[in-house]
Amino acid sequence: MIVTIDGPAGAGKSTVARLLAERLQFNFLDTGAMYRAVTWAALEGGLDLTDGERLSEMATRIELRIDAGRVSVDGVDVSEAIRTPEITSKIKFIADPPAVRSVLVDLQRRFVGDRNFVTEGRDQGTVAFPHAECKVFLTATSETRARRRWNQLPAENRPQLSAILQQQEERDQRDREREVGRLVAADDARQFPTDGLSLEQVVDRLVEWVGERQ
Ligand code: DC
Repeated sequence: MIVTIDGPAGAGKSTVARLLAERLQFNFLDTGAMYRAVTWAALEGGLDLTDGERLSEMATRIELRIDAGRVSVDGVDVSEAIRTPEITSKIKFIADPPAVRSVLVDLQRRFVGDRNFVTEGRDQGTVAFPHAECKVFLTATSETRARRRWNQLPAENRPQLSAILQQQEERDQRDREREVGRLVAADDARQFPTDGLSLEQVVDRLVEWVGERQ
């Protein structure tokens, strides 16, 4: 069985998907980490970020591993390096070109195979796994999402909440307007607003819902 969790930045997808996978005893795939790792590889290799063809060729060539929450590129552990603001600001060059997305979607499908998986991203229910049995579109208001992100940052170098809100809105807009793999709920996805719910409540409800459909 495949459970897809899509939604905007800061909706809590990664944490919810990881906990849901643990509870269901499914495998878990964070596809945002794949886009981040390819962005890291492009910067490390000094590639022209506007050359989609070259970037997709590089994405095919590198050895990308995601195992037990650690991410590596050609044997280098990049788990922390892919979470920097610099990587986040450059991801669009990797997430926009359809040729690069196609390489990563193929990799996601091979990774999942016919095993039980919770996958998380923007296009999981629409493009990567349109036949998934359970599709969730996790949302929360912009304000809630920005506040959650702000709370996760270390108190000593927290930017203004308004700055986080603005960056988040720019990223959401870019994710929604992408030519291929745009952020949109699949027609058969369950819309799941998380405002006012604790993490445990969200996961409990999803465990119950997936259980009913199993
Ligand atoms: O979930 P995240 O913040 O780690 O994702 C980083 C970026 O990667 C996000 O802004 C859009 C892109 N992404 C994508 O285009 N498709 C996915 N399936 C996952 C992430």
